[in-house]
Amino acid sequence: MTVREILKMGDPRLLRVAQPVTAFDTDDLHLLITDLLDTMRASNGAGLAAPQIGVDLQVVIFGSGSPNPRYPDAPIVPRTVLINPVITPLGAEEELGWEGCLSVPGLRGLVPRASRIHYSGFDPYGDPLSREAEGFHARVVQHECDHLIGKLYPMRIRDFTQFGFTDVLFPGLDASQDD
Ligand code: NI
Repeated sequence: MTVREILKMGDPRLLRVAQPVTAFDTDDLHLLITDLLDTMRASNGAGLAAPQIGVDLQVVIFGSGSPNPRYPDAPIVPRTVLINPVITPLGAEEELGWEGCLSVPGLRGLVPRASRIHYSGFDPYGDPLSREAEGFHARVVQHECDHLIGKLYPMRIRDFTQFGFTDVLFPGLDASQDD
């Protein structure tokens, strides 16, 4: 088990456009995914992208298959490894939701995202993956894939009155594992 250091906002490596994966089912790729899973689990993250541990590749993981203590009321998202993702919004509808990020510790913001999306990509073996998602699931995918184009959620916030410290915004939330 290797829990890697998570880069924080301000690190220029979080602002890069990540490179596509060109070789699947390799030892290096499986090791990267194991490290991402270990690191996400250790922080109770809803997802994690390779650039957040300093790896310049289009690899994200998200979901846990069980309730997440950082987002206790959120629907369960299937545990997914998604490589070289492509997201297409389904319709123009957007919705606002609170987001946090392990690279932006201690803060939450209200972020607009497409309500419904189609996403596709590959699993670690190079097999294609194609899904539709809505609500929290769609939000997590959009947040994680933003990391692959150098976007952190604060860059998506439109109303900065809805951005602040988690313990101030949500005093009742158990933030013991938060960030
Ligand atoms: Ni994030």
